Amino acid sequence: MPTRSGRACECRVSEQIAHISCVRLRRTQRIVTVGASHLVLIGLMGVGKSTVGRRVAAELGWPHVDSDQVIEARTGRPVREIWLADGEPTFRALEAEALRDALRRAEPTVIAAAGGVVLSADNRRALHDADAVVVWLTADPARLVERTRADAHRPLLDDDPEATLREMAITRDSLYREVADVVVEVGERTVEEIAADAVAALSSVDR
Ligand code: S3P
Repeated sequence: MPTRSGRACECRVSEQIAHISCVRLRRTQRIVTVGASHLVLIGLMGVGKSTVGRRVAAELGWPHVDSDQVIEARTGRPVREIWLADGEPTFRALEAEALRDALRRAEPTVIAAAGGVVLSADNRRALHDADAVVVWLTADPARLVERTRADAHRPLLDDDPEATLREMAITRDSLYREVADVVVEVGERTVEEIAADAVAALSSVDR
């Protein structure tokens, strides 16, 4: 069983849950408490944090907060515009603020964190210290290229998305691993299957 001190375990959640009592949920069922305040999804662009997050939130009956959406709502501007007009440092400051505010929410919340949150040591510390289970969604960069092809809202993927995502996997994987309680491989699995692993992570982490 993964622990907060041991951080991410190397195996897939689907393998871990053989050893724990699995939380089974009907769609209408509300979970009041499963041991942690929040469930945070982290991972590279295109891995499905927002889609899986919405699904998990619907299953748990929890609110869902998406970092990029919060930033866009607060500024009234698209992420692409902030990034290109104001620069990366301004965007990262907004990203950090969105994460901090989400982690401070009083009610249990599913948080789809932006892909870049782990770049900041302060953000990593906030994730580590938070009353939250952090789930790292991971996939092969080639798969992420396919999944992000149709989206034009990510300025970082404007030039050579495959090389960018491969480079990001190299530089960021150790950072995701540092803060993750559980690693979920996306592979070819459905949103429902991945969401089920994320829900199971809530009760599998010994906090
Ligand atoms: C970024 C990820 C994006 C968005 C921005 C930068 C990153 O969010 O915040 O384009 O540095 O990984 P998603 O991970 O939700 O796509």
